[in-house]
Amino acid sequence: MSDRTNYPGVVLVTGGAGGMGAHHSRTLAARGSHVCIADVADSSALVEEIISGGGSASAHSLDVTDPSAWARVVDEIRSAHGELGGLINNAGISRRLEFMDTPDDIWELTMKINLFGPFYGMKAVAPLMQESGGGSIVNISSIAGQVGYFSPAYSSSKWGLTGLSKSAAGNFAQWGIRVNSVHPGLVGTDLLGGASDFVAASLKSVPFGRMATLDEITEAVLFLLSDKSTYTSGTEITVDGGLVSNGLYHRIIAETGELS
Ligand SMILES: NC(=O)c1ccc[n+]([C@@H]2O[C@H](COP(=O)([O-])OP(=O)(O)OC[C@H]3O[C@@H](n4cnc5c(N)ncnc54)[C@H](O)[C@@H]3O)[C@@H](O)[C@H]2O)c1
Repeated sequence: MSDRTNYPGVVLVTGGAGGMGAHHSRTLAARGSHVCIADVADSSALVEEIISGGGSASAHSLDVTDPSAWARVVDEIRSAHGELGGLINNAGISRRLEFMDTPDDIWELTMKINLFGPFYGMKAVAPLMQESGGGSIVNISSIAGQVGYFSPAYSSSKWGLTGLSKSAAGNFAQWGIRVNSVHPGLVGTDLLGGASDFVAASLKSVPFGRMATLDEITEAVLFLLSDKSTYTSGTEITVDGGLVSNGLYHRIIAETGELS
């Protein structure tokens, strides 16, 4: 294997207008991919920024909860490029609400965006990826899809996405399409807006004592898209500063001060 890392020629990033999705998009474009940035928000400013920096990108209007919008975006990509080698199902929302405080409409909206969206997306892109000779799908779950997180809508949607990734990985292997999930811990984006007390308290359980940088999440996602992970499918990469594996005892030891 050469030292050079190769990325798909065309990659679709949902929720790419802001937050982590924008960072994945900028980085992929800087490494030579054409990035199709799809969002309910306007991504034209980011597309212009990428193009003026010498990269290649296009803006696509997409509500991930709408299967017909997915079909339109895939048609746009097929007409413009004739191929698709990567999909990052990144669009997501989080309302930090405990069980009895979760209204039914928030439950439904969270499931629709965070879980139904990636299902519709994988279904929509699979034929074009198959025609393109295969590809890689990276679903952005969360550590809330690996532990019992206090907010049921978010946690259930992300656990669902963890399982959906593994199920699709088995089905899609015959077409040369790999499917994996990335599980970020805390990352300082708009998604955590207004939650500074929650973040400060959570960081006490993070062995690394800090949030992730955008680069730290993007590198895990891009590894899974790249030709450095060609035998990796149906698995999880957790990028959380040790929170899931060691957060409990990190906090216990920090609070007791010593072991005996
Ligand atoms: N920030 C964190 O600490 C954290 C931790 C773990 C997992 N995540 C996950 O990472 C992903 C990205 O989160 P972020 O922190 O960058 O969030 P963000 O709020 O900064 O960005 C989310 C993007 O998704 C878009 N979006 C929302 N609803 C959409 C829809 N229906 N259709 C298309 N686009 C839509 C928004 O317009 C926005 O551009 C999410 O799936 C989130 O659950 C975030």
